[in-house]
Amino acid sequence: MAGRIPQHFIDELIARTDIIEVIGSRVQLKRAGREYKACCPFHDEKTASFTVSADKQFYHCFGCGAHGTALGFVMEYDHLGFVEAVEDLAARAGLDVPREGGSSAPAQPHDEIYVALERAALFYRQSVSGEAKARDYLAKRGLAADVIQRFGIGYAPARWDALLDRYGATEDERQVLHRAGLVVERQAEPGRARTPGFYDRFRDRVMFPIRDTRGRTIGFGGRVLDGSEPKYLNSPETELFHKGRELYGLFECRQATRSLQRLLVVEGYMDVVSLHQAGITYAVATLGTATTPEHLQRIFRLVGEVVFCFDGDRAGRAAAWRALENAVSEVKQGRQVRFLFLPDGHDPDTLVREEGAAAFESRLAGALPLSDYLIRELSARSDPTSVDGRAKLVELARPLIRKIPSDVYRELLVSQLAEAVRMQPTRLAELLQAGEGSGPPSHGETAPTRRRHARHVHSAATGRGNLVRQAISLLVHYPAAAAGIQGTEALDHVDRPGVALLIELLAQLREDPPSSTAALLERWRERPEHAPLSKLATTECLVADTEAATAEIRSAIERLVAEDSVTRLEALQEKAREAPLSAEEKLEIQALIRNMAKGARAGRAK
Ligand code: UTP
Ligand code: MN
Repeated sequence: MAGRIPQHFIDELIARTDIIEVIGSRVQLKRAGREYKACCPFHDEKTASFTVSADKQFYHCFGCGAHGTALGFVMEYDHLGFVEAVEDLAARAGLDVPREGGSSAPAQPHDEIYVALERAALFYRQSVSGEAKARDYLAKRGLAADVIQRFGIGYAPARWDALLDRYGATEDERQVLHRAGLVVERQAEPGRARTPGFYDRFRDRVMFPIRDTRGRTIGFGGRVLDGSEPKYLNSPETELFHKGRELYGLFECRQATRSLQRLLVVEGYMDVVSLHQAGITYAVATLGTATTPEHLQRIFRLVGEVVFCFDGDRAGRAAAWRALENAVSEVKQGRQVRFLFLPDGHDPDTLVREEGAAAFESRLAGALPLSDYLIRELSARSDPTSVDGRAKLVELARPLIRKIPSDVYRELLVSQLAEAVRMQPTRLAELLQAGEGSGPPSHGETAPTRRRHARHVHSAATGRGNLVRQAISLLVHYPAAAAGIQGTEALDHVDRPGVALLIELLAQLREDPPSSTAALLERWRERPEHAPLSKLATTECLVADTEAATAEIRSAIERLVAEDSVTRLEALQEKAREAPLSAEEKLEIQALIRNMAKGARAGRAK
């Protein structure tokens, strides 16, 4: 497993990246004073409300509110995950992405594995032409030359050492082939002293390279030409290849369509290739595994709509239900999950060949929404007309309904379900609630406190005239201003929303000044405060430079401390009216008064 990407590297990456170049290579930017402008790539518009600041290394659209760093932009615009976006920017900046802990391997541990896989893919492709039975097989399956080429389909010769002979001359090379999953280690045979060696994993098979989102081959699926078993052999899990997260054909989908709207998830390699050949270039397949939550997260990072397509047989229905179980935790506003069941005896490959792309797409249009499918299955598995049946229905529904993260969606589904089984929605909701608490809570222990914290920051960020918000906002706009702020210990006692964040920010920015607003924001990416802090970066800042910002922050902190002293003093005086104060409290009052007098003198002296 690859370790985390260290934060110092992200810092450096942001410092070495120019957001103007990154966005400018994808969107036509026009200079406007200190900033750059463009028509927003994230929503339709005729006048340019998308602005990019070179100072802050930050973009913001006044029209739709989109905003973020260069890294965030690449994630949004190219539909990449965080790690992929980091790799993209790093490649641009000529940096290697280091990893923390995890494997003890050196900086580019995977390079030689990628090379081995690419060589193997080329070798398999080239082997097709020399092998009549491979050519015949592909022709028999009706695969056109251009789709064979687009998917890089090849053939692994029927030998135990075709790859080994070519690329495994030294022990080091054989180890690389092994790490790439291309060769298998021979088991030592009892009684024989011979050192075990390796043999080619894929022999006499049609080879489908599995690529990552950047088009690099990370594994293979290999199909037999006849009826032998197993029909498909996949690469084992390796450093690069994780079956549960890859989607076969995703790279090819993105090559085919600039902005993907939806994805069709099918079961097989051949289904994907056939659909693409027919012009349905948004088809992907899981690799002989059930759809995992990780798959779904990847899908929804790319598109808002997914249709799962399953064979009409029992295995297909079972797979569909597993997909549903994993999908409920991902349903949200703006995400559409539907299910398509094909007639028994068909798969997408046979069907699209038989009836053509248009007919297949009209089937897609009629695919069952997740809620309908869920209700239909639940009703079929219980007998909602009887009392026992209803109890069973509730039991079946509960774990699924619980996983739905959106309150709105959950309520909608419960009322739909109630209607379908002719129950009072409130009664059903009660029954669903009843078993609550028997299972593990759906959120981790820390979730409520983290959320609360985030809300505090948010209120600090939105309260007008709020001193904490002002100070934080200035730091976001002028991170270097923190260097001039000393003596923040007085803040430790101030009990206001957002103060903890202010203290943390000040300490962090002083200790290790970031190169820009963007670099500051990237450090908070995984914290709940990331969104409110980014939001602050989009607000207008009336302060002209770092020096002015320092002065403003200093005065905001002084006022915060002073206001807090007044509040504390008032509280103590209030208390004194009701009961005698302790010695400690009396001392505190004296100290507070002394400090306030000192503050007032300092204020007058200015
Ligand atoms: P299917 O058995 O439905 O095959 O397996 P298919 O895709 O229709 O293949 P063709 O048309 O006979 O060539 C569906 C998927 O399940 C995985 C593969 O990913 C396959 O594409 N599978 C199947 C395996 O991993 N191993 C197997 O032995 C069989
Ligand atoms: Mn098939």
